[in-house]
Amino acid sequence: MRTIRITGTGSALPGRIVTNKELEQMVETSDEWIRERTGIAERHVSVGETVVTLASEAAHKALEQAGKRAEEIDLILVATCSPEQYLPCCACQVQAAVGAVNALAFDVNAACSGFLFALNTADAYLRTGLAKNALIIGSEVLSKLVDWTDRSSCILFGDGAGAVVVERCEASPGILGRALHSDGTGGGVLQCGARELTTPYARTSAAKTDQKQQTDDREHYIQMDGQEVYRFATRRVPQCIEEALADAGLAVPDIDLFVLHQANARIIDAVAKRLHADREKFPTNLERVGNLSSASIPVLLDELHRQGKLHRGDRIVLAGFGAGLTIGACVMTW
Ligand code: COA
Repeated sequence: MRTIRITGTGSALPGRIVTNKELEQMVETSDEWIRERTGIAERHVSVGETVVTLASEAAHKALEQAGKRAEEIDLILVATCSPEQYLPCCACQVQAAVGAVNALAFDVNAACSGFLFALNTADAYLRTGLAKNALIIGSEVLSKLVDWTDRSSCILFGDGAGAVVVERCEASPGILGRALHSDGTGGGVLQCGARELTTPYARTSAAKTDQKQQTDDREHYIQMDGQEVYRFATRRVPQCIEEALADAGLAVPDIDLFVLHQANARIIDAVAKRLHADREKFPTNLERVGNLSSASIPVLLDELHRQGKLHRGDRIVLAGFGAGLTIGACVMTW
């Protein structure tokens, strides 16, 4: 049976680090409050790096580690919800930057679940023989979508990119089970409007009829009902992991590592508790990077890989949740 194997990982973070102490100068908050309620101490913030430059740097590192030349890549998927441009898509820009001239390239937007959704899209391409390998990247510059005067959200997010190279493999067990879900009816709890809400045509006709459309500036920034998102994550992530484990015919004790979306340490604590799993099996990097949305899981995977904490044959669970609402879990053999 055809399946996939991750053969290289890479990541890139902007050089500028913003500590909680610095945020104390910007909004009414404290290092203590942020650490206690989220586990986050600092995050990297772009001072010019873009979704594409970060993604390309992470991609280069993943390709190098996989021992693959860019021209050998069949498929590039960039998961992002913070592109700088509507057109062309980030994946095509990354394709040009790394020289993957033979790849099919497109973006996936499923917010913080984006990397998992992209991984499963690549899995479908590879299993059906549409591609032999893929470069999958999660990349975000959320700092431009964050309202830096809103203390309830600006403390959470950071910028960065993570990439993996996956290859078709006949022998490796690869992805063993999965559960992916979307619930558009819950979309209101976490949203961010586009910069241009009206078309030039609509603006002209509104002017003609003297019905000026008022748009609230805050709509252009991330707006979130933090408590609702928290409730959604702590209830649905464990359910989704159980569903993916059942799909794989495995149980919680069979898993070596749970690589979760890094939104909040308290959410990770609650998920581990609900699953009756050993909290030690849930590595985190959110204290240093904050919530990187779609880049969160691949950046952590890369760090674990380079630290020698992932071993061939380990059974790992990847799980994420985010705007949409979207949620996903995937059980795989490293
Ligand atoms: N510093 C200090 N006080 C803050 C604060 C901050 N940065 N942000 C909020 N507060 C205040 C609130 O105004 C509130 O004050 P009040 O009691 O006087 O009204 C108090 O702290 C408690 O706020 P609350 O919203 O109940 O805090 P919380 O424990 O739910 O933590 C989040 C807030 C955002 C950290 C938490 O809800 C969360 O992590 N939710 C999930 C968000 C998430 O992960 N989003 C991304 C999903 S991909």
